[in-house]
Amino acid sequence: MICCKNLYLEYPDGDKTKTILNNINLTINKGENVILLGPSGSGKSSLIYLLSSLRKATRGEVFFNERSLTNENVRVIADVRKNHFGFIFQMHFLLPYLTVLENVMLGKNDFSKQNKIRAVEILIGLGLSEHISKKLHQMSGGQRQRVAIARALMNDPDVIFADEPTASLDHQTACEVISTLKNHKKDSILIMATHDTSILSGNERIIRLADGKTIE
Ligand SMILES: Nc1ncnc2c1ncn2[C@@H]1O[C@H](COP(=O)(O)OP(=O)(O)OP(=O)(O)O)[C@@H](O)[C@H]1O
Ligand SMILES: [Mg+2]
Repeated sequence: MICCKNLYLEYPDGDKTKTILNNINLTINKGENVILLGPSGSGKSSLIYLLSSLRKATRGEVFFNERSLTNENVRVIADVRKNHFGFIFQMHFLLPYLTVLENVMLGKNDFSKQNKIRAVEILIGLGLSEHISKKLHQMSGGQRQRVAIARALMNDPDVIFADEPTASLDHQTACEVISTLKNHKKDSILIMATHDTSILSGNERIIRLADGKTIE
């Protein structure tokens, strides 16, 4: 379960403050697929960063499985992320001088043979079997996006945070990828920001962001 209480995100703006997220309260239970919708700049990425504890809120609290992460030290939070969370960023943050396989294996930071087999299986499942040994610069945008998705699946996460994971994919591939993210494990949570509502299948929980507030 991921939960947030009275969450605010503010930035200084001249001599005023700009409120990006304004008192967000959410409880996301096991097995839920949550879609964050909203115009550009509405705070979708920001909310993903706060819920995953990649960034600190100005005020408010975030919980993972009833444990507050807000006042935990960076090591504890890093452990939670490493063991329970998978990330697909809007900018992929893949390493260009590594191969596809190495980038995916980094998702677990474990270069054992067993982990290699797992990485290869995930890449095959995402249609990248012919690209495993390529360097990133030899890949198209959509292929890179799928490498980022493979990396996020490596640690078998309980929660996947996905920021526009299908932005450079064709419709068919996008639908397959979403299905992989939703079904990768029983009871896992998907929290995904997107602009593309054509990839939704109707079994998602839709949360819209507007003026710093959420509307369900
Ligand atoms: N470090 C920062 N300092 C000041 N303002 C910021 C900072 N980071 C983000 N913002 C502002 O926060 C707002 C929300 O940004 P965010 O990236 O969360 O939007 P988004 O909904 O993900 O947009 P998009 O659909 O374009 O990805 C934007 O208005 C942005 O300008
Ligand atoms: Mg964004």
